[in-house]
Amino acid sequence: MKIVIIGGTGLIGSKLVSKLREHGHQAVAASPDTGVNTLTGQGLPEALAGADVVVDVSNSPSFEDTAVLKFFETSTGNLLAAEAAAGVGHHVALSVVGTERLSESGYFRAKIAQENLIRKSSIPYSIVHATQFFEFIKSIADAATVGTTVRLAPVLIQPMAADDVAKAVGRVSVGSPINGTVEVAGPQQFRLDELVRDGLRARNDPREVVRDPEARYFGAKLAERTLLPGDGASIAETRFEAWLDQTLVPTRT
Ligand SMILES: NC(=O)c1ccc[n+]([C@@H]2O[C@H](COP(=O)([O-])OP(=O)(O)OC[C@H]3O[C@@H](n4cnc5c(N)ncnc54)[C@H](OP(=O)(O)O)[C@@H]3O)[C@@H](O)[C@H]2O)c1
Repeated sequence: MKIVIIGGTGLIGSKLVSKLREHGHQAVAASPDTGVNTLTGQGLPEALAGADVVVDVSNSPSFEDTAVLKFFETSTGNLLAAEAAAGVGHHVALSVVGTERLSESGYFRAKIAQENLIRKSSIPYSIVHATQFFEFIKSIADAATVGTTVRLAPVLIQPMAADDVAKAVGRVSVGSPINGTVEVAGPQQFRLDELVRDGLRARNDPREVVRDPEARYFGAKLAERTLLPGDGASIAETRFEAWLDQTLVPTRT
């Protein structure tokens, strides 16, 4: 199959392109780096010509409320219109478990807008909701840092390795459209503050993580289970300790 990966040079996208190629598919990485820009439409018709599936794993360069909403609305609108013109039969998008519960956050309002455009388009689709990537722990800390202190709520989180996210998106991409959402999550639950404390310690990051039930997550108030998947989620393989061992060996003492 010809599968175009929008954001194919990013964290998930580059892993997805490799995995699809290993399985014999024609995987095309599309991003500004490769001459395809979903915001302007540049290079889209050429990239999508003859494509069976388009997978959107792009992300906004800015998480500022207005910028991120503009990014997902504009790029998703352009992409779906180009797919309709090219006769693409399956649109796959990566989004986040709990997105619908996080509308206090500008980033998640943008992901909700992206998902709504997909649901109301004419293209058969599948939305993959993944939990937070282990690779994203530092960004969670950065967004919650004031001075040298990281304030996070002690809510439950079930994070997963980016490699397992790419595997899950790959499986969905080569299957039939589900015209709905599937969830994928990691094999263990943690308290958000403890996970980030352990993640920072493993990187020798000296920031102090403070447990604060009122702390917001990218602008949203979290309840105990806001970030958790539902009962039907697929559970990925890689455990946090194994990922730390594989990923951070050179920085650990
Ligand atoms: N972080 C998490 O824990 C988490 C959890 C679940 C789901 N997700 C979702 O996963 C998705 C991918 O995240 P990621 O961390 O893999 O992203 P990433 O590494 O930041 O990569 C973003 C990609 O988007 C591309 N891009 C940016 N602007 C573009 C444009 N105008 N046109 C086409 N492509 C453009 C970038 O291309 P260039 O490199 O050329 O700029 C890059 O390939 C996001 O939608 C996010 O919501 C994230």
